[in-house]
Amino acid sequence: MCGIVGYIGQRQAYDVLIKGLKRLEYRGYDSAGISLGGGNSRIYKCKGKVSDLEDQLAGQDVSGRIGMGHTRWATHGEPTDNNAHPHKSMNGRFVIIHNGIIENYSKLKTGLEAEGYKFESETDTEVLANLIEYVYLKNQNNGDSVSPEDAIRLALNMVEGAYGLVIMCSDIPKTLIAARKGSPLVIGIGSGEYFIASDATPIIEYTNSVIYLNDDDIAIINTDGLNLTNLKNVKQKPNIKKIDLKLDEIEKNGFDHYMLKEIYEQPRAIRDTYRGRLNFESKFLRLGGLHNVFDEIKDAKRIMIIACGTSWHAGLVGEYLFEEFTRIPTEVEYASEFRYRKPVINKGDIVIAISQSGETADTLAAIQLAKKAGAIVLGICNVVGASIPRETVAGVYTHAGPEIGVASTKAFTAQVTVLTMMAMAIGYANKGLSADEFTSLVDELYAIPEKIEKILEKAGCVKEIAGKIKDSSNSLYLGRGYLFPVALEGALKLKEISYIHAEGYPAAEMKHGPIALIDEKMPVIVLATKDHSYDKIVSNIQEVKARKGLIIAIVTEGDTTIKEMADYVIEVPHSDFALAPLLTVVPLQLLSYYIAVMRGCNVDQPRNLAKSVTVE
Ligand code: M6R
Repeated sequence: MCGIVGYIGQRQAYDVLIKGLKRLEYRGYDSAGISLGGGNSRIYKCKGKVSDLEDQLAGQDVSGRIGMGHTRWATHGEPTDNNAHPHKSMNGRFVIIHNGIIENYSKLKTGLEAEGYKFESETDTEVLANLIEYVYLKNQNNGDSVSPEDAIRLALNMVEGAYGLVIMCSDIPKTLIAARKGSPLVIGIGSGEYFIASDATPIIEYTNSVIYLNDDDIAIINTDGLNLTNLKNVKQKPNIKKIDLKLDEIEKNGFDHYMLKEIYEQPRAIRDTYRGRLNFESKFLRLGGLHNVFDEIKDAKRIMIIACGTSWHAGLVGEYLFEEFTRIPTEVEYASEFRYRKPVINKGDIVIAISQSGETADTLAAIQLAKKAGAIVLGICNVVGASIPRETVAGVYTHAGPEIGVASTKAFTAQVTVLTMMAMAIGYANKGLSADEFTSLVDELYAIPEKIEKILEKAGCVKEIAGKIKDSSNSLYLGRGYLFPVALEGALKLKEISYIHAEGYPAAEMKHGPIALIDEKMPVIVLATKDHSYDKIVSNIQEVKARKGLIIAIVTEGDTTIKEMADYVIEVPHSDFALAPLLTVVPLQLLSYYIAVMRGCNVDQPRNLAKSVTVE
């Protein structure tokens, strides 16, 4: 949450910063700000989007070859001009931008107030700016030779919480200082120029050489070079990596919204996720990222899956897959709950953390807890080099490509693809699956992208249905078995981008309460493809119909029974029922998308949300 960008070099910093902030805006869009020129820094900031800041700066002098910018997801203090970053310390020595939360800010603030410090904002970040300045000036007044870098180090040692920071000091006007603990920071290395950002997307246009900062790293950067140390002032060796991210992967490429582009990218994302791992001809499946721990996984007594949001829904599908294919008991937990209770974790238990961004604070904290307890912690992540793959002992990347729309779509289907392959590989190895079952699943999984293409061809039909229900204020999503998590995911998609209240339920639970809500104004979206509980779901549809609910059913191609009962049907091709989530979720994503567009909502940047949730 919050996007950070910094630049030092021969270019006009403003151009790099504004472009970079637009790429990072998915991380938060409550306010935007930049600071230019390292000496007497000029700060420009306002409530609203990066484009509002740009409008405000039209015609002004924005020259300078050093600077930093910030796009905010508000934590401490409302989205206002004053609370926008960058923040300057009271005596003007330090300017900082920050992603994360300083947990002991209140205590630090009280101490600084007692020393005469005054605050202009309600943020924890301004407290940090003043703390650094206080440490710096106090040591200078005492005659101690403390550099700005030393003061930053001393102050950060007093701080509890998480931060990704970029700092400028007027006494070292040609230097940028970056520091990380808990919140991601990447440094791009160009020729005589450096870029700092929360992720690599603002950087790839200029260089593919990057350093991912580790926790406690402090980088001191000027045009002569980069010096990497840690909080204890011990020199660190920069680990320079080459990133393989193309510019067109982060553009809209003719689509109206990133979300729509990403929905349409799903066939490609799934193919890329199984390519090189699953061989259709030889019926061979190998997950290289699990190779070192595969024996432990196949003999495991228990699997635990931890994740948040949409990734948690993918985890629920994983539970069904693992239990069916491997017969290993599997539990799924919200990472935020897992970390705050005392989960029983035995040595050798397998914990799988799922995260698109690889930066979700609750998931990271849950991983640390599981590692401490002796579990073998694996990751399923989309962002290469993110914190979660670096914290886990082994794992599998989803190759969905950058997901920029805040509503997760292609990451979900790529995660389910990885979970399916994991369950198949383990099941085949531990005899949970027969050779024939395994072979049939290989063929079925291979055919999924083509089937999704067929569903996408019918987007017009989904759009029409969207038009019929766009004004509803509530809706119910029902599914059974593998399709229950899809019902939850469909409901989440609708509420997060269209602000319509939606609930996902196991269809059979409807009669234990939610049925009371059903009347002619209530759209009920039922996942009703052909599987072993088909007859039961048909009965559930009858129950809704008897109460005059508006039924939208996702059915298997050629189904005539439900067609006669439902108000609208959306057909999906037939598949093995274990793979049906990969198909049935697609019309639900489209339905939410079209409803949100029709209601005039900001689909890619829904209110109050951010893509990467790096606070607890
Ligand atoms: O990056 P992660 O997969 O760890 O993110 C988890 C959730 O924050 C995320 O899935 C969120 O629920 C999405 N906005 C859902 O569309």
